[in-house]
Amino acid sequence: MCGIVGYIGKRDATPILMEGLHRLEYRGYDSAGLAVARNEKLQVIKTKGKVRDLERILPERIKGMTGIAHTRWATHGEPSDRNAHPHTDTSERFAIVHNGIIENAASLRTKLEASGVTFRSETDSEVIAHLLAASPADTLEDSLRSVLRLVTGTYGIAVLDAQRPESIVIARNGSPVVIGIGDREMFVASDPAALVRHTQSVVHLDDGELAVVRADGYETSTLDGGATAKTPLTIPWTDESFDKGEFSHYMRKEIAEQPDAIRRTLSGRLEPRFQTTHIGGLEMAARELLEVKRIKILGCGSAYIAGSLGAHLIEQLARLPASAEPASEFRYRNPVIEQDTLYIAVSQSGETFDTLAAVQEVKRKGGRVLGIVNVVGSTIARECARGIYLHAGPEIAVVSTKTFTSTVVAFALLAVHLGRLKDLSTAQGARLLAALQALPDQVATILNQEARIATLAQRFARHENAYFVGRAAGFPIAMEGALKLKEISYLHAEAYPASELKHGPLALISPETPTVIVMPRDDLYAKNLSTIEEIRARSGPTFVITQPGDPLPMPVDAVIEVPKSEAVLDPLLLNIPLQLLAYHVALARGRNIDQPRNLAKSVTVE
Ligand code: G6P
Repeated sequence: MCGIVGYIGKRDATPILMEGLHRLEYRGYDSAGLAVARNEKLQVIKTKGKVRDLERILPERIKGMTGIAHTRWATHGEPSDRNAHPHTDTSERFAIVHNGIIENAASLRTKLEASGVTFRSETDSEVIAHLLAASPADTLEDSLRSVLRLVTGTYGIAVLDAQRPESIVIARNGSPVVIGIGDREMFVASDPAALVRHTQSVVHLDDGELAVVRADGYETSTLDGGATAKTPLTIPWTDESFDKGEFSHYMRKEIAEQPDAIRRTLSGRLEPRFQTTHIGGLEMAARELLEVKRIKILGCGSAYIAGSLGAHLIEQLARLPASAEPASEFRYRNPVIEQDTLYIAVSQSGETFDTLAAVQEVKRKGGRVLGIVNVVGSTIARECARGIYLHAGPEIAVVSTKTFTSTVVAFALLAVHLGRLKDLSTAQGARLLAALQALPDQVATILNQEARIATLAQRFARHENAYFVGRAAGFPIAMEGALKLKEISYLHAEAYPASELKHGPLALISPETPTVIVMPRDDLYAKNLSTIEEIRARSGPTFVITQPGDPLPMPVDAVIEVPKSEAVLDPLLLNIPLQLLAYHVALARGRNIDQPRNLAKSVTVE
């Protein structure tokens, strides 16, 4: 999705802006540009394509100590040089970069055109630059305030005035903007990833806030002009955590980081003395937790699937009814919000618009929401106020791997905590704590099987369609395996509960359609063996993900075994080979693994 970077200080802005844009590439975009102010003039360079294309056309002489830059993900108007940001007014005095959507852009545009303005792009954003030029206000912040009163929609915005380059003005409504505090220099970004190289001290704007950012400080206020007080937050990530290191893809690096990510999610949260867990950010006493009668989990994409596993963990360990639902659908069905339900929002980035909207819907109706989020200080984390941070480290690849795993671990921590308040015995608690601690090494042993999985992937890569099936908690794993495969290899992959296979999809099983069967050696193992027979009877290739035990009673095309854990944690381990399978199929098919087509890391628009 779109990204914003800004710099104001004593250094040359262009290299800092370019480096910031590179840091935002992972979010997905189709064009890039920057504007730098010098000698009361704007220098604007922009292009369709990648940041390196922008680098190629950047003139030597583009110098200046105040600048803003942008990576665009097309919404209004095709990806093109013309539609790339920054946009300027006719006299090229004001430059703006904008994330979000201006919903009344068409009517504003008609009015501006009637007053003689000629538009140079098809974007909704350009209206802002022209409205700034038309504003009679004395200061840039007052001009922006008056413009924002005219627009409806969502924005994270940064504005530059060539005639007053001593500040950058930023504002937020629904799309994040943060200020990075440096030493007599300041940074602006839509994502702290763009500025961690320079500072770890950041201030997040809230919706309806505006900030004037100068080299030596900043002031925040509401859109009406009332000052607001902000406390800077330290982001726990360093620049090194964004490096690809020895790996050829971030996804592969993040798969490899899972043992450490799990350790960090667990760190300080196990309480062996009472065979339970301790979750600092929960901020709910035992009595309050015991009043919870139901748990409803909301998330999108992999976060929703991790939530489905979370629901399973909570139901099994705490015997509380729990279910997950795509956050993107939630608000549209006018949901009933119950006082005795605990709502949990899951989001790696903490910025997914649909998840945030679901959180707001729950809160508006008086419900309680807890966040399970990776990015500290992100919008959903702040909106939920209480919750569990994953501490998995930054995830750069568009598809989630380590944060999926860490989310399941976070749910396990919560489920043990809730379970131990109820019927889970000390012995069961102790066993679960031991199983959680064993997970990092178990994941590492699965990663050691990469060569075998890569060979299997070669066979898989020849097909165009695949099924993934599982039962009970094996089904969300089938969903995650299918999602990962389709996202990065573009192979059509569909997940089905194994029990449903005979109610439709069996019609499509043939030697051309492989099926991955997720089958732990649990009570449903025998039923899964029948599923394999059903597929084999139609000559469908079968790839089995299971655990060590007796050999399968029938021939299959491949078997991958993962170590056994406590039954409720088994799904987490069964998922790891599927991550490697998706990665190697995508590699064999020559795909852009870290930035799959049409997808963005965090979807901050509806
Ligand atoms: C996008 C990504 C998915 C991700 C989903 C939720 O759709 O492409 O991979 O699972 O957003 O992201 P979140 O940051 O809320 O976990």
